[in-house]
Amino acid sequence: MSAPANLSISGKNVEFPVKSGSIGPDVLDIAKLYAQTGMFTYDPGFTSTASCESKITYIDGDEGVLLYRGYPIDQLAEHGDFLETCHLLLYGELPTAAQKADFDYRVTRHTMVHEQMMRFFQGFRRDAHPMAVMVASVGALSAFYHDSTDISDPTQRMIASMRMIAKMPTLAAMAYKYSIGQPFVYPQNDLDYTSNFLKMCFAVPCEEYKVNPVLSRALDRIFTLHADHEQNASTSTVRLAGSSGANPFACIAAGVACLWGPAHGGANEAALKMLQEIGTVDKIPHFIARAKDKNDPFRLMGFGHRVYKNYDPRAKIMQKTTHEVLNELGIKDDPLLDVAIELERIALHDEYFIEKKLYPNIDFYSGITLKAMGFPTSMFTVLFAVARTVGWIAQWKEMIEDPSQRIGRPRQLYTGAPLREYVSINQR
Ligand code: SDX
Repeated sequence: MSAPANLSISGKNVEFPVKSGSIGPDVLDIAKLYAQTGMFTYDPGFTSTASCESKITYIDGDEGVLLYRGYPIDQLAEHGDFLETCHLLLYGELPTAAQKADFDYRVTRHTMVHEQMMRFFQGFRRDAHPMAVMVASVGALSAFYHDSTDISDPTQRMIASMRMIAKMPTLAAMAYKYSIGQPFVYPQNDLDYTSNFLKMCFAVPCEEYKVNPVLSRALDRIFTLHADHEQNASTSTVRLAGSSGANPFACIAAGVACLWGPAHGGANEAALKMLQEIGTVDKIPHFIARAKDKNDPFRLMGFGHRVYKNYDPRAKIMQKTTHEVLNELGIKDDPLLDVAIELERIALHDEYFIEKKLYPNIDFYSGITLKAMGFPTSMFTVLFAVARTVGWIAQWKEMIEDPSQRIGRPRQLYTGAPLREYVSINQR
C-alpha cells in the first residue's frame, strides 16, 4: 500500500488512501470524500476516474499495450482462436486441450435460438438498421431463457454467459439475412465458431456453402481483437446496468445500444463511410483540413482514442489482416485501401495529429476488411458487438461476484434553478 495522500480542503486536512494495482497507475480512494468534506469529485467523461477494480484487461495507452489476463493481444491473436480468448477472459486462464474441447462443445450447443425468436424479426422493416434489431433481440432473450436470469445463482450466471456468447452470432446472422430478404440459416454443430457464423450469414438453401478457411481465420482473429477493452463506454454501461441486478441479457442489450454510437463501436461503419466520402487520394488534404477546423464537427473516424496516445496495438494486427484478406480475395487495388493508407501516412506526419496524439484505432482498417468479406457497412458494428459480448459478460460476471459490489449511483454538480415557489398559470 502506498503512502496516503493528504488534501487540504476548505482549510481542513483530509487523508485519502492510495491503492496500487499489479501494474499501471495507482488510484486515490476517495470513497469517503463526500462524508468527510461535503464535496463531490467532478470528472465528466471519466478521464481521471477508475470506476472499479478488475483483473481482466490491462491497457497502457502511452506504450500501446493491451493484455487480456496478462497475455499480449498480438500473441493471443496470432496463436489462439477466439473461443480460447473467451475461456481466458471468463475463467482467467488459458484452457488445457481438454478444457478447450469442453468449452467449444458447450458454446456450440447453445448456438440455436428459441424458434419463436424468429417472430420478432417479422416485426421489423427490412431496412431496419441491424443494430436496432440486435438491441431488441438481445434484450428479448430474457423473455425466453428464464432459467438463466437469476444472477444470484452461479450456475445460472454461467449458463447465461455461455448462451450470450453462443447466440450472438446466430442473432447477428439472422439480422443480416432478414435485412436482405434471405431465409435464416441454422447453426451447424460440426463447424467452428467463426466458420459457423460465416455460413449462417452467407449460405443459401439453393447450393452448398464452403467456408473459406483463410477468411474464417481472419474473422476469428478480428473477433479476438475486439473481445474486451477495459472500462470503455459500452462495458461501463453493462456494469452500471448490472449493478442494479438487471438480468444479463438486459445488461448486454444496454451494452449493444451504447456500442452503436459513432464515437465508439459505430466508428467502423463511420470510418468506411468517411473513406467512401473522401473517395480518392487527392481529396485527403481537404478532409484533413476539415478535421482540424474547430468550427467543423467533422472528425477523422477511426482516428484517436481516449486511452491510446500511441498506436492502437489492435490496429497494427487489423492492418495485417486486411492485406491477408484482400490478397486471398484477389483484390489488388482497392481504392478505399489506397485512401486509408495515404490518409494514415499524411495524418501520422501532420503536426495537429502528432500534437494531439491521434493515431489510427481498431476501427480504421476493420471496415475495409469486413466490406471485402461481403458484409454491408451496416453490419460492421454488429460484428463488433458479437466479439465484445464475451468482454461485457466477463466484466459483468466479475462485478456480480465482487462481494463489495453496490449499485452504481454517481452524483452531479447542480447548476439549475435554486428553490422557488409554484406560480399558477393565470399569474405567469
Ligand atoms: C472505440 O474506449 C475504448 O476502449 C473504445 C474502443 C473499445 O475497444 O471499446 O477502443 C473502441 O470506440 C475506438 C474509438 C472509435 N471512435 C472513433 O474513431 C471516432 C473518432 N474519434 C474521436 O471521436 C475521439 O478520438 C474519441 C471519441 C475516440 C476519443 O475522444 P476523447 O478522448 O474524448 O478525445 P477528445 O474528443 O477530447 O479529443 C481530444 C482532441 C480534441 O481537440 P481539442 O478540443 O483538444 O482541440 O483531439 C481532437 C479533438 O477535437 N480529436 C480529433 C479526433 N479525435 C480527437 N480531431 C480529428 N479527428 C479525430 N478523430
